[in-house]
Amino acid sequence: MTFRRKRTAILISGRGSNMRALIEHARNPSYPAEIVLVLSNQPNAAGLTFAKETNIACAVVDHKIYAGREEFERSMQVLLELHRIELICLAGFMRMLTPWFIGQWHGRLLNIHPALLPAYRGLKTHERALADGAKIHGCTVHFVVAAMDEGPIIAQAAIAVLDSDTPSSLAGRVLAEEHAIYPAALACVAEGSLRVEGNRVFCGDSVTSSEPPALRVPFGK
Ligand code: GRF
Repeated sequence: MTFRRKRTAILISGRGSNMRALIEHARNPSYPAEIVLVLSNQPNAAGLTFAKETNIACAVVDHKIYAGREEFERSMQVLLELHRIELICLAGFMRMLTPWFIGQWHGRLLNIHPALLPAYRGLKTHERALADGAKIHGCTVHFVVAAMDEGPIIAQAAIAVLDSDTPSSLAGRVLAEEHAIYPAALACVAEGSLRVEGNRVFCGDSVTSSEPPALRVPFGK
């Protein structure tokens, strides 16, 4: 059976730790996605330093020099087409995308969000979860649709909120989960083992596999 890895771009704006996790997983030749482009809208994004040390093409499309969102996105689109990109992972990419761009990439554009969607869309998710007294928090990988932080959910990871947690300690444990689920979700999309029905995404055999343990806080301690 012929196996062709899906040509994937990662869009970043900052630190790039999720980008790094994706790149590291994709170093395995049997991983079904190949990271071929890292694109940042911020010339000084810290993540570019790591990306430049790899063999992966890096590009900056600085949104500030464009008259509007769509002009900026059309420049990104030219680069994405030039690199024959098939899948895009947003990884801390801090620009709102227009329906035009999202429409170009329907079913091929993924995002990671630091909360258990549909809870805590938007920013400052860890602060808000703590302020609400949530006992369980986590992260989500989803397909991008026109509405912000919506779209079919591919993968989630949940963690217990500890009494001692601060926004930054919670963010750190959620981030470790992000680094695990994003590569797993991308692999599922790249190998084409997904079935999407409405907002529900079924990945390979996972629907029929044995039931995962429930996360119960504090009763599961
Ligand atoms: C992550 O928490 C991600 O969920 C959110 O932005 C942050 C990016 O972090 N979308 P990094 O740049 O991947 O380290």
